[in-house]
Amino acid sequence: MSTTVDPAHAAAFDSRADYTAAVERVRAAARDYYSGSTLAMDDATYDALIARIAATEAASPEWTVAESPTETVGAGGGVVGDVPHTTPMLSLDNVFDADGLHKWAARLDRTIGRPAAGYTVEPKIDGLAISARYVDGALTQVITRGDGRAGEDVTGQARRAVGLPHRLGEPVTLEVRGEVFMTEADFALANELRTGHGEPPFAHPRSAAAGTLRAVDRAYAAPLSFFAYAVHGLDPAAHLSHAGAMAYVAALGVATTGGSGAGMPHCATIDEVVAAIDDLNDRRLTLGFGVDGAVVKADSAADRDDAGSSSRAPRWGIAYKFPADTRTTTLLRIEVQVGRTGVITPVAVLEPVQISGVTVTSATLHNFDDLVRRNVRAGDTVFVRRAGDVIPEVTGAKLDERPDGSEPFTPPTTCPRCDGEIDRSQKRWRCTRGRACGAHESLAYYTGRTSMDIEGLGDKIIDLLVRAGLVTDPADLYDLDVATLKPLDRMGDVSAGKLVANIQASKTQPFSRVLTGLGLRMTGRSMSRRLARHFTTMDALLAATVDDLQAVEGVGPERALTIAAELVELRPIIDKLTTRGVNMTEPTDPTAAAAADADAAPAPLARPDGTPMTVVVTGAVPGLTRDEGNEAVERLGGKSSGSVSKRTDLVVVGEGAGSKATKAEDLGIPIMPAERFADLLAAHTEGDTARVAALLEESLPMPA
Ligand code: IVH
Repeated sequence: MSTTVDPAHAAAFDSRADYTAAVERVRAAARDYYSGSTLAMDDATYDALIARIAATEAASPEWTVAESPTETVGAGGGVVGDVPHTTPMLSLDNVFDADGLHKWAARLDRTIGRPAAGYTVEPKIDGLAISARYVDGALTQVITRGDGRAGEDVTGQARRAVGLPHRLGEPVTLEVRGEVFMTEADFALANELRTGHGEPPFAHPRSAAAGTLRAVDRAYAAPLSFFAYAVHGLDPAAHLSHAGAMAYVAALGVATTGGSGAGMPHCATIDEVVAAIDDLNDRRLTLGFGVDGAVVKADSAADRDDAGSSSRAPRWGIAYKFPADTRTTTLLRIEVQVGRTGVITPVAVLEPVQISGVTVTSATLHNFDDLVRRNVRAGDTVFVRRAGDVIPEVTGAKLDERPDGSEPFTPPTTCPRCDGEIDRSQKRWRCTRGRACGAHESLAYYTGRTSMDIEGLGDKIIDLLVRAGLVTDPADLYDLDVATLKPLDRMGDVSAGKLVANIQASKTQPFSRVLTGLGLRMTGRSMSRRLARHFTTMDALLAATVDDLQAVEGVGPERALTIAAELVELRPIIDKLTTRGVNMTEPTDPTAAAAADADAAPAPLARPDGTPMTVVVTGAVPGLTRDEGNEAVERLGGKSSGSVSKRTDLVVVGEGAGSKATKAEDLGIPIMPAERFADLLAAHTEGDTARVAALLEESLPMPA
């Protein structure tokens, strides 16, 4: 955890008592951070507190405590060991935006008296700093950062870190500094090992790495990794650039930040640095290890020598912090979901929280064993993290903040969807009916009019087919033949023949209908159509990254994540459908597209002649910013306006609305509550025309 001194945007504390209390909170969090296995405070909260402490010290210097967290490495809470460092292990100052970077670079240029010759950009690894000593090529000692002056000897555990070789390629004596961390995959494994031994899981890969690095006599070993970001003890006469020094240790066999999937581009200007950081930020959730920022360093040896360091941090480098991937929020309730294959999962419904740019409202709790072990209850303040292209997860609760009278969660005794038996033999509980548990619903959706539109496959037949065990997923329909169908109740030769023909004919339906029929969560008919038009083929859609998905109109980060996860879950059925010859291509022919459009959901805020209604949004619409509210009006076929007049067709009124709402009432203009508007937008996006009509009816006089 690095100290954040960015008082420019932070509010100073009003009283000395509040200031000292904040210092204590930060110190306690730092102590836990450096030593404990639980996450005491999320990074964003920590950084915000430090910024307020710094702002207070700037405003009231006489209040400043000795060894303030703004001055000391490790926020005054680091675990101090007894092995002195050869040179102090410093921290880095932080910036949070391009402006901060430009200011840092300008300061650096002033210090060295010339423009810096160029910069490197590398990932800021979310782990623990260590210093590894090699003598004649052999790894002899590994020390934690501690308070920066002396640290703990962790040689025994650190020797197991992948990337930190026991012997270098050459018999050289030097000191490699870098970060010990746990990859996402190893974190999952570490928690399995740990919970398997009856211990509570780690809340975060960083705390897992910290716990593992100190664990001296564990009966089991969780994997660690290492990336170097600095080397000491090279011949100063060589004047190696940072990139050159890192290439040298890499050649000796040490894993480096630059050699990781993140890379270490060289940039000539700060604008190039900003572009490289954006690129890293875009990729960071796909790297497989925690990256909490970018580190920008002056590359040339001369620039670094001339810049030097303060007692706390070097002037030649700066950390650019990304938004935190773990935040705390309140767990509102625990719901139980049954997936398409009958897997039964506990899901956390959360007080909405922003995590690395996405509003998270629900998160997985993995499985019931885990839920019991993690000891998470409704009402708890919980840690929620987003990593990789995965669904956000609840990793643990703050037990010291648990409200009085909270009750442990009671897992279901029967399947919540079909009331059938639950198979508890594995960690992931399943309805014993498996795919058949939800088969009726998913088949009805697949064959329905807005999807594959298969005539003759109504509810009754679907029921017969599922009960007879003939189909459990849509792809099974294509294996049906007359001989199999005939024995079914009220099924003669002719009707069986017709049904088989209709099913086979549906194979040529456009890709958008197949996609609709698969029923991906958070997508309905119009969204499926948009996805199909954008990607044209199923192959292209399956190859799309979460970022690619967001290029589709109406797909934000949360929907993109859901779509990606749904495609992974549906992959076996998609493959089965493809094998059976179902078309997975959207026609690009304009007449076919126009025909498909003709049957698209009509724009709800357009008049019958197609012209847009004039709509004013006043006050807050849940889940939307002001701009998004106006965009939503346009997406619904309307025209957004800032003022209410006689010509206004509709006024959307949310919390905090003022005179515009009163004026609308005075003029007798139809009013729609903001919640209903949000529902309308959702229903339209989902292609749920019946619900759109119902919602409109409540607010607008129906056109004659
Ligand atoms: S360079 C003199 N490079 O971030 C300190 N640090 O917030 C030079 N860190 O203490 C540090 N990744 O533990 C550097 N690529 C990277 C890093 C990195 C992670 C850590 C390191 C440092 C802390 C400062």
